Amino acid sequence: MSKGRILVTGGLGYIGAHTAVELLAKGYDVVLADNLSNTRKEVLEGIEAVSGQRPTWWNVDIADPSATRAALSEQHFDGIIHFAAYKAVGESVAEPLKYYQNNLTSLVNLLAYVQSHPSCGFIFSSSCTVYGQADDLPITEAAPIKPAESPYGNTKQIGEEVIKETAQAKGLKTIALRYFNPIGAHHSASIGELPLGVPQNLVPFITQSAAGLRGPLQIFGQDYPTADGTAVRDYIHVVDLALAHIVALERLMDNAQEAPMEVFNLGTGKGSTVLEVIQAFERATGQKLAWSYAPRRAGDVVAAYADTTRATQVLGWTAQKSLDEAMRDAWAWQLAIGAPEKEA
Ligand code: UD1
Repeated sequence: MSKGRILVTGGLGYIGAHTAVELLAKGYDVVLADNLSNTRKEVLEGIEAVSGQRPTWWNVDIADPSATRAALSEQHFDGIIHFAAYKAVGESVAEPLKYYQNNLTSLVNLLAYVQSHPSCGFIFSSSCTVYGQADDLPITEAAPIKPAESPYGNTKQIGEEVIKETAQAKGLKTIALRYFNPIGAHHSASIGELPLGVPQNLVPFITQSAAGLRGPLQIFGQDYPTADGTAVRDYIHVVDLALAHIVALERLMDNAQEAPMEVFNLGTGKGSTVLEVIQAFERATGQKLAWSYAPRRAGDVVAAYADTTRATQVLGWTAQKSLDEAMRDAWAWQLAIGAPEKEA
């Protein structure tokens, strides 16, 4: 018997697909909503290869109010995990309205459903970007929210506020998960990240560079006040991240939450410099990576890593996989997909 029916928006995206396979493995009935704006429908085959099941897929733009109303009317869901959003920081600076329109309208459309079905739990993909450069490390959930560095980051901050106010007013069950830096791929190499065009994030650039698809990695900044001068981040394996969504969802389905919107950091608790990530990649894969130093990237913080005490104590969740394992899985995935089909 199904444990519950869950809608996963952005379910063919990077974190969405990994969460879908973990939900299917646990016996949930899964519906994926994805308009393929930043992924491919072949991801569905990857999900099927991993799980032996093919979830229902709706090709719907949830930023479209009438399409979303039509898709959701008469539907019962025990939970919604909302991943669908634009996430390219640089593009958001150039096209703010694209980000506000898509990321905020989709959230409002989904909350309209949840508001009229308050037993449906709601999980939101937030980001450690809400903390900006935190004053204290590691970063707890109580750290102040800093002014957003980009419209993308602002959609996460505003999104959390919209959820919190709606959840308080309407008695909803919601959780915002603040991700640190998701990396890696499913160990089967059947699903992983599919960046279109030149990857902006570190690990997909590393794997594409090592595969000969890109030039040498540019390390943005060599004079940060860190152990080796390169910036520090908390890199978390995407499968660990996916599993956290399920325990968060189950907390809501069990009515165990203590506030209308709860917030959890999802990271490993360990900070790694860019040079340490490169070393992990070389160690885990036996590949050699070419790189050079470049100026700092605008908007980058010096260091960010999570205090994960709250997720451990309240959700009973802790990241299990190492940086080396994530790099090995990212490389196996890179070898499986080869060259990207199309450039952005
Ligand atoms: C970035 C976003 C963050 C967003 C996240 C989503 C910025 C400033 N931040 O996080 O808001 O939530 O992606 O995926 O864009 N690096 C290099 N060379 C590269 C690429 C990255 O040295 O070619 C360095 C960066 O300077 C940084 C680290 O690698 O120190 C990680 O970068 P990245 O993977 O882009 O993640 P964030 O910038 O932490």
